[in-house]
Amino acid sequence: MPSSSHTLKIKRRKFPKSEARVISSINVKKTTDRLVSSFSIIYNHNEQIVRENLCYNMSMTKVNEERVQEIFNSISSDYDKMNAIISFKQHDLWRAKTMKRMGDLTGLSILDLCCGTGDWTFDLSESVGPSGKVIGLDFSENMLEIAKAKLKEEAKKNIEFLQGNAMALPFENESFDVVTIGYGLRNTPDYLTVLKEIFRVLKPGGRVVCIETSHPTLPIYKQAFELYFKNVMPFFGKVFAKSLKEYQWLQKSAEDFPDAKTLEELFRKAGFVAVDYQKHGGGAIASHFATKSKKPKSNIRIGKK
Ligand SMILES: C[S@@+](CC[C@H](N)C(=O)[O-])C[C@H]1O[C@@H](n2cnc3c(N)ncnc32)[C@H](O)[C@@H]1O
Repeated sequence: MPSSSHTLKIKRRKFPKSEARVISSINVKKTTDRLVSSFSIIYNHNEQIVRENLCYNMSMTKVNEERVQEIFNSISSDYDKMNAIISFKQHDLWRAKTMKRMGDLTGLSILDLCCGTGDWTFDLSESVGPSGKVIGLDFSENMLEIAKAKLKEEAKKNIEFLQGNAMALPFENESFDVVTIGYGLRNTPDYLTVLKEIFRVLKPGGRVVCIETSHPTLPIYKQAFELYFKNVMPFFGKVFAKSLKEYQWLQKSAEDFPDAKTLEELFRKAGFVAVDYQKHGGGAIASHFATKSKKPKSNIRIGKK
């Protein structure tokens, strides 16, 4: 069992001086301490399991694509159920809000990148209607298996599921009106490469929409969220899907992912204009919207070099 001094160390690490200054009122500190102690039991439990699993030879920050593929292949059968549990069933609402902002999609051709088990792909197929087309692309065979089984049941004619890598898309330039990517970008080894690939396959005037985990900034909520995501979420993964390591990795990928503002800049760097974002769940999730300009970039330089 971890000692009480170990627990104290954890508490200190959770609240560095800079953050403590922000949380100024004594009442706020008391509430935060109460939150910490209620979560610390789960935290210590998880820490112990992590120490027991030191043979877990995957770097938690930089993992290769093969490992990511393995992770999603292994959690595919419980993925939909776990999504609902982890998000307290809010994920459908966040997607619905994002789609509302996308407006009328009738007749459009859409690529749903990192489509997984296809929930967003199916919603998009409803929105584009019979005159539109949606391709769901993912590199995990097992996630796609589930998506394809749903397709068989729903018999949608305007959906196609394909296996492929978001880092090197198997499509011609300017193939799609819209590209969506839901909780996929943070799992890829190079976000900018993926965004540039999305830019390449979009038609001029086309749009990209990305839903991803993000970072709440509000004191207390931020700490509570971090505690939940770091400790409770992997614990749920262990209990409900027997996949502690996989859900620990998913947590780590979310922790390392840029905040909404930084991600906005990355979209610009990839060439997009009109970049904007919408936060959900107190900033725990963000939907980014961006456009590929209709005008080709001019090669003419104005003024001195
Ligand atoms: C968290 S799931 C999201 C699934 C789905 N979009 C959703 O909203 O539920 C992430 C998916 O991204 C896929 N993925 C990760 N990296 C990928 C890559 N480089 N190319 C294609 N798919 C990838 C995984 O296989 C997994 O199915």
